[in-house]
Amino acid sequence: MNSVIDFIHANRGRYVEELTQLLAIPSISALPEHRDDVRRCAAWVADELARIGLEHVEVVETEGHPIVRADWLHAEGAPTALFYGHYDVQPADPLGEWTTPPFEPDIRDGEIFARGASDDKGQVFAHLKAIEAHLSQTGRLPINMKVVLEGEEEVGSEHLAPYVRGHAGELAASVVIISDTEMFDRGVPSICYGLRGLAYMQIELRGTKGDLHSGSYGGAVANPANVLAHVIAQLKDKSGTIRIPGFYDDVRELREEERAEFKRLPFDEIALRKHLGAPRLAGERGYSVLERTWARPTLDVNGLLAGWTGEGSKTIIPAAAMAKISMRLVPDQHPDRIAERFEAYVRKITPRTVDLKITKLHGGMPWMTDFDNVYVQAAARALEQGFGKRPVLTREGGSIPIVADFQAALDAPVVLFGFGLPDDNLHAPNEKFNLDNFFNGVLASAFLYREIAGTKS
Ligand code: BES
Ligand code: ZN
Repeated sequence: MNSVIDFIHANRGRYVEELTQLLAIPSISALPEHRDDVRRCAAWVADELARIGLEHVEVVETEGHPIVRADWLHAEGAPTALFYGHYDVQPADPLGEWTTPPFEPDIRDGEIFARGASDDKGQVFAHLKAIEAHLSQTGRLPINMKVVLEGEEEVGSEHLAPYVRGHAGELAASVVIISDTEMFDRGVPSICYGLRGLAYMQIELRGTKGDLHSGSYGGAVANPANVLAHVIAQLKDKSGTIRIPGFYDDVRELREEERAEFKRLPFDEIALRKHLGAPRLAGERGYSVLERTWARPTLDVNGLLAGWTGEGSKTIIPAAAMAKISMRLVPDQHPDRIAERFEAYVRKITPRTVDLKITKLHGGMPWMTDFDNVYVQAAARALEQGFGKRPVLTREGGSIPIVADFQAALDAPVVLFGFGLPDDNLHAPNEKFNLDNFFNGVLASAFLYREIAGTKS
């Protein structure tokens, strides 16, 4: 193991150069004009998997973006881990708010700034470097390893989910490892045992064939922008409670012990408010910020489109209005049932003066796991070795839709072993990844494989 660790220390500079190449590829899964870039990124990743010594490297075509697979299965008698991550990234808008361009990685104060730096290319790359260190220094890995990297996580893993179900035998593993989450804070390594799910809806209202003169016709027809605002206003009440009938029916209430655990975490509300630049924090009455973001469902408008939004005034009644609305879900809510309840309620409260179209854009299951298994214990030891501190247990407000599918299809525990930071600006301008976390993440991953080798389940 010493030679593996020495190798990691000696190669820090090269790692950053290689990561820079990966981050320069604009693999934005949501935008059709970046389709070829996503493919180029899949090819880059596949070449890297082969170069570090993994076998059976394969770029699997899907109807969407490719899945990249590889394995190394020569640790006879040792457990098998499946490592999953994603090489796609979110769109980079608003571009004007980036200090340096999103696909020209820049290092400032020990952080590398680029879209995808933390979510998830940097975290995936940490594992690839740990695998490389083991294979190059010892000719083997302590465990059997299967790698699955997808290009559609940021758009809901639509094609990976059926792939996992259809290839459950081939993908069989004792444990699934994912590094696509955050640490609780700087210097506080974490293992995440819960993720929220997601139901993402689009509402389109149409009032007339085209925009109208607001003087000639104002008063004669409904204004879809006004109607949409009224519909949205009825989705939540003033205390933050969601008003969709049945929305909370399946919500698993927080246990008192869990609330107490959350309270023990070193969470600083004032620091968060300042970091976010919010005049006040807000949310559901009766719950702390951690409870609201980790363990309670939410409903949020993600975007609105209607009428004249250019300079100055233009006197129109817009023909149409559109809203994108996401609901983050907690166990045991089901995205399909929530989507149905949302649709039924919105149909009921929308007046007949406009045509209504509701589309479900995507859904993902919430996930929560027991953390008293040998793999979580192995991960805790590895984080302590890599970061010099024992990890805390956390939940997250974000979603990784495939986690629940892995757990169900492979019947294996999932360990979320993340190296991001809460101020990494995921999905926002100036996304970054802390290079010490990256480097400690390589060490922790290298230790993790060894720790898993020593587990007896
Ligand atoms: N890495 C994130 C999930 C995440 C976010 C974990 C914040 C911890 C904290 C992941 O790539 C992501 O953003 N997922 C999407 C999924 C969606 C598009 C289906 C999300 O949560 O919005
Ligand atoms: Zn991610």
